[in-house]
Amino acid sequence: MPILTRRNLLKASAVAGAYGVGLGLAGRFTAAQAAPEPMVLKTQKTEAKIMDVGPTKNMLTWGEHGMPPVIRMKKGEPFAARLINGIDDPTTIHWHGLRIPNKMDGVPFLTQPYVYLNDAFDYAFTPPDAGTFWYHPHCNTMTQMGHGMTGVIVVENPKDPVFDAEIVLNLRDWRLGGDGQFIQQFKPRDAARAGTFGTVRSANWQQQPQYDAPAGGLLRLRLAIADVTRIYSFKLDGAAGTVIAIDGNPVPERFTLDTLDLGPGERLELAIRMPDDEGAIVSLSDIHSTNPAVLATFRAVGNSLKRDVRDLGPLDANPVAKADLSSAEHIPLQLSASADKGPSDSICGSLGYTFWAINKVAWQGDTPDPTAPLAELKLGKSYVIDMENLTPHLHPIHLHGMSFTTVSSNTKQVMPLVSDTYLIEPNEKVQLSFVADNPGDWLLHCHIIEHQKTGMTSYLRVV
Ligand code: C2O
Ligand code: CU
Repeated sequence: MPILTRRNLLKASAVAGAYGVGLGLAGRFTAAQAAPEPMVLKTQKTEAKIMDVGPTKNMLTWGEHGMPPVIRMKKGEPFAARLINGIDDPTTIHWHGLRIPNKMDGVPFLTQPYVYLNDAFDYAFTPPDAGTFWYHPHCNTMTQMGHGMTGVIVVENPKDPVFDAEIVLNLRDWRLGGDGQFIQQFKPRDAARAGTFGTVRSANWQQQPQYDAPAGGLLRLRLAIADVTRIYSFKLDGAAGTVIAIDGNPVPERFTLDTLDLGPGERLELAIRMPDDEGAIVSLSDIHSTNPAVLATFRAVGNSLKRDVRDLGPLDANPVAKADLSSAEHIPLQLSASADKGPSDSICGSLGYTFWAINKVAWQGDTPDPTAPLAELKLGKSYVIDMENLTPHLHPIHLHGMSFTTVSSNTKQVMPLVSDTYLIEPNEKVQLSFVADNPGDWLLHCHIIEHQKTGMTSYLRVV
């Protein structure tokens, strides 16, 4: 829980005043867009049975109970949600991967005031891209996300090819003790390394759930890595999986899944041709760690539909502008360890340590006076981020508000994937190009939450 000092409270209310009340601002916005009735997302404390020993207490979600809802939106159609805070901890919602106006981005201080207990904030926007995305708070995330507040977003495109089934998996771990109750969310010595891992794995808040899908049919499997720490290496047994989209964008060329590494915040879409035999099992595993784990299984049911994955038409590319590499300005970005001064108090939860930095500057936490932006970009101009990892760890680096294209890497062949998160390896140098076409202050950070909260955060200003 954040430390509520009087100084913080004063700062917080000053910012709320400067921005105006969230409801009022967003209200005008929704009227102009003729948005639908807002979906209500009320934060709530809940209990759920993750382990056999009995219900886990102090879980957090949106809605009455259970996992946060899978939110379905339609590409190019207005969406609205009213966040109501039912927990005694300020919160916001960030719509990870959606290219929407800055005011709707959900970052405390940078884009909106945080929402206190019994307060509300109206979000309204039109998702421009179809694909698999997700949502989570951007305040006191170690606790709020660690205890359950991570949900999946599916943005549908009516022109997508037709599948015989679709399954969405919200993948994440829990830090639970043998009694099924939460234990300390992180360990400082791990935060200074790869991060603190969960003790219990889950898919859709269940351990190894099984789902039915038509035998011989084409299953669209949407995976979202909503964990705060873990990097996954996906592997499929019992059927072939074709990778059709990564991070909400169709892959330039489809390929058969062998193993694929993706970090926290990333998403994967597979087309799986289910086996012909009724009862045959397909299993999805994560083989990244020394303890490979089955995450979920899929059982073939009914008579074979005898479908062929090659019959699937393409997914539409999302309307992301292509950067002009010849005129692009380069932005150097170095990820390093830091032994800088400790972070400032933050109402959005400080972990109390600084271990990491971007261009030698360690983020001081969500405060009303953040460090200067990493760079100030001109609206409409092309840029290339030259990102270099000087640490011995992997980092899933996420940019808010704009999608980039991977241009090149010094360690491997990369496909020109459009994305919002790049999992950078130790000693890797990568070039990410994009057009600065969305005005505002856009956060950029490692999505290993312990890294994000101990310095590995910055932002780009587009004016
Ligand atoms: Cu999932 Cu700041 O992001
Ligand atoms: Cu990191």
